[in-house]
Amino acid sequence: MWVMDIKTLADDLAEVLVVPSFTRMGFRLRRRLFAWPDAESYGMAARTVVLTGPTSGLGRAAASAFARMGANLVLLGRDAGRLERTQTELLAETPGLNVTTVIVDMASLASVRAAAAEVLERVPQIDVIVDNAGAMVPTREVTAEGFERTFAIMVLGPFVLESSLLPRLMESPDPRIIAVTSGGMYTQALPLDDLAYERGEYQGALAYARAKRAQVALIREWARRLHGTTPGARVVANAMHPGWANTPGLEASLPGFAKLVGGQLRTAAEGIDTMLWLAAAPGARATTGRLFLDRRVRPFDRVPSTRLSAADRRTLWEAVVALTGEPDPTDQT
Ligand SMILES: NC(=O)c1ccc[n+]([C@@H]2O[C@H](COP(=O)([O-])OP(=O)(O)OC[C@H]3O[C@@H](n4cnc5c(N)ncnc54)[C@H](OP(=O)(O)O)[C@@H]3O)[C@@H](O)[C@H]2O)c1
Repeated sequence: MWVMDIKTLADDLAEVLVVPSFTRMGFRLRRRLFAWPDAESYGMAARTVVLTGPTSGLGRAAASAFARMGANLVLLGRDAGRLERTQTELLAETPGLNVTTVIVDMASLASVRAAAAEVLERVPQIDVIVDNAGAMVPTREVTAEGFERTFAIMVLGPFVLESSLLPRLMESPDPRIIAVTSGGMYTQALPLDDLAYERGEYQGALAYARAKRAQVALIREWARRLHGTTPGARVVANAMHPGWANTPGLEASLPGFAKLVGGQLRTAAEGIDTMLWLAAAPGARATTGRLFLDRRVRPFDRVPSTRLSAADRRTLWEAVVALTGEPDPTDQT
């Protein structure tokens, strides 16, 4: 017993110090401490994963990994050429793979609704939804639908996608929703009265951190609301963050960051380990509405000023329902 406590202590210490936790040091330490089975050893045969952002970085690595694990894939990407290239590569890597591609711009609710309708039309079964697509938008932009772009891509679009696919997801014997968030959310509170970031000078990194905090708060609401309903009770909804992983997205949004952390970025495979584990490990079903890094539940906040109360999270949910114009998806369950 005390051996386990020392391991947990070492893990917790790394987490408190941030850099040893988020870099590859954290991943490698925990893998060794807890002697993890390889995430790809959990089978996904006959399970279907809907994955956003499969054309680059973490999403691209996840598409390959899920394919190797035996899953059927539904890939939602915004660029037809990149999506087609990804599909071709995946079929070469995993011959016989069942893969469906659908075009979506997560910043456009109309596009997300059309994509969800196409998925429901073409895909009879959904077991896992991975909300992975994300971007840091350097200057404040308003979409044609009138939404601040960062919030649209990482909060409103995923909400519409998950709401639209929920009835099909609930037919699965083992339904799971996974939101890919960021440790960057620890740095920012979410101003509930300024979700569109109209006040103060816009900074891409702050908008990104706020949107990620909103994404996690919504995951907690999904979990709470679905848990209380008989048909939805089996749906497990969790967030994970990948630490700092070497991807085109990280390099584009934080150039020079790799150098800053002394070349200690995680590989994409290390960054997605917890995503795969949450999607496939039988034990990962035991927890819902939590935030994970390296297969362990982590705190939602590091400082009290970022905390969103249960009432705040309900307010956010209601605001997102109102902004998207969706019927509350958990009223139907
Ligand atoms: N890398 C890290 O260290 C790190 C850390 C914390 C969190 N994350 C999160 O992990 C996720 C993946 O990031 P990454 O590092 O792999 O970045 P990436 O290499 O830039 O990949 C991002 C993916 O999201 C897609 N995407 C972006 N905007 C989209 C839109 N409007 N509609 C549809 N798809 C869109 C991109 O499509 P295109 O290929 O067409 O551009 C790409 O497939 C993101 O949510 C990110 O915030 C990453």
